[in-house]
Amino acid sequence: MKKIAVIGTGYVGLVTGTCFAELGNEVTCVDVDKEKVEMMKNGQVPIYEPGLEEIFKRNLHAGRLSFTLDLAAAVDGAEVIFLALPTPSAEDGSANLQYVYDVADQLGPLLKNYAVVIDKSTVPVGTAEEVAARIAKSATAAFDVVSNPEFLREGFAVQDFMQPDRIVVGTESTRAREVMAELYEPIVRDDHPLLFMSPRSAELTKYAGNSFLAAKITFMNQIANLCEVLGADVDDVREGIGHDTRIGHRFLYPGIGYGGSCFPKDVLALIHTAEQQDFDFGLLKTVVKNNFAQQQVLTAKVLGYFDGNVKGKTFALWGLAFKPETDDIREAPALAIIKALTGAGATIRAYDPEAMKNVQRRFGDNPSLILTKDEFEAADGADALLIATEWRQFESVAPDRLKSLLKYPVVFDGRNIFTPATMQEAGFYYESIGRPVKHPR
Ligand SMILES: NC(=O)c1ccc[n+]([C@@H]2O[C@H](COP(=O)([O-])OP(=O)(O)OC[C@H]3O[C@@H](n4cnc5c(N)ncnc54)[C@H](O)[C@@H]3O)[C@@H](O)[C@H]2O)c1
Repeated sequence: MKKIAVIGTGYVGLVTGTCFAELGNEVTCVDVDKEKVEMMKNGQVPIYEPGLEEIFKRNLHAGRLSFTLDLAAAVDGAEVIFLALPTPSAEDGSANLQYVYDVADQLGPLLKNYAVVIDKSTVPVGTAEEVAARIAKSATAAFDVVSNPEFLREGFAVQDFMQPDRIVVGTESTRAREVMAELYEPIVRDDHPLLFMSPRSAELTKYAGNSFLAAKITFMNQIANLCEVLGADVDDVREGIGHDTRIGHRFLYPGIGYGGSCFPKDVLALIHTAEQQDFDFGLLKTVVKNNFAQQQVLTAKVLGYFDGNVKGKTFALWGLAFKPETDDIREAPALAIIKALTGAGATIRAYDPEAMKNVQRRFGDNPSLILTKDEFEAADGADALLIATEWRQFESVAPDRLKSLLKYPVVFDGRNIFTPATMQEAGFYYESIGRPVKHPR
C-alpha cells in the first residue's frame, strides 16, 4: 500500500487515482476546478467513462479515495505524486507546459520525505529534466522525477489501466525504479510488461505511439478517398490488407478524420520537437494536412448533393463525441461539420448519447444548432442525416424507421455504420467513406 497524490483529475488523473485506490492504495486527488472537486466529494463522477463510476464509489466509500483543492494537503506524506495535468497545443503547435511547470514550481517546499514525482501527462522530450530542475530549486527532501506516459484510451480507460499492453517508465534512478516496480506489481504480467528506459525515451515513446496511430488512420482515409475515385470498395481493401500479420486489422477503419484531446495535439507537438532540432518530419506534416481535409469530407459530400446550397436546409447529426463511449468533444470532427453547415445557413438537429452537456456548454448560443433528446427526434423532418460518431445504438436503428422520420431518405455516413446494399434496398441515397455509391443521383 502506498500513499499517492494525483494532481489533475481529468480523464487520466481520475482513472489513475481511482484504479490505484482499487488496487489498495490510499489516494488523494487534487484539482483546481472547485465544481469538479465538490462533485467528486459528493460521489459524482464528472466524466463519462465505462466502468469508472462503480469503482469510484466503492473506493470513495472505503475511504481509499479522496478529493481536495489543497495541493499541500494532497502531497503531504505521499511517496508517489502523479502529474496528470493538461498539456494543450500552444499557438505554434508545441505542447503548452504551463500547467505542469506551475505545479512543479510549487512542489519543492511541500515535499517532506522522499517522493517520486511522475509525469503522466504527455510531455515533450526533456520535460522530466526541467520538472526536476524546478522542484530542486526549493526542495530540501530527496525526490526523483520519472516519466510514465499514459496510454489509456477514452471509452476503455479502466480496462486499459488494469490490463495495459505495457507500462513505460523512464528513470535512471534505482530508488525510483523500485518504487515504480512495487506500484505497478499488481497489474504487470508477462504479456503486459513494465518497460524501463531513460526519461527521454519514455517521453518520445508516447509521441511516437500516437503519431504512428494518427498516420495509420490517415493512410486508410487516403486509401478510402482513392477507392471512391477508382470505384473500389475500402471494406474489401481493408480486409485484404488486414490479414497481413505485419499490418493487422486494427485502426484500418476509414472515417472523417481523427480528433480528440490527444492525436491532434500530440502530432503537432512532435513536429514541433523535431523542428527544434532542425529535423523536418515531413510525413507528420502531411498527416496533419490530410486529416484537416478529411474532417471536411462529409460536408463536401453534402454540399455536392445539394448543389452547393444548404441555406434553409435542416440536417440531423448523429454523434458529437470524437469517438464512441466517451463524452469528450475536444477536436471532434462533428464540430467541424456543425461550423461549416450552420455557417452556410443550415440548421442542425444533433444528438449524442453522452456528449450533450459538453456541446451545450460550448455551442449553447448557436441558434442554428438544436440539441434533441434522442437520435429519432434528431432525424424527425430533416432533409438528410449525417453520421459523425459510430455509437452502437445508431447501428441498430432500422432503415425503415429512419426513412419514416426523415423528410428525404438521404444519409451521409462518415463512419460506415450501415451497409450500402441494405440502405440501397431500403430506398436511401446513401454515401459513406470509400465505398461505392449505390444510388447515384
Ligand atoms: N485523455 C486521454 O485519453 C489521454 C490519454 C493519454 C494521455 N493523456 C494526457 O494526459 C494529460 C491529461 O489529460 P486529460 O485528458 O486527463 O486532461 P483533462 O483536461 O481532462 O484534465 C486535466 C485536469 O487538470 C486540472 N488542473 C489544471 N491545472 C491544475 C493545477 N494547477 N492543479 C490541479 N489540477 C489542475 C484541470 O482542472 C482538469 O481537471 C495530457 O497531457 C494528455 O495529453 C490523455
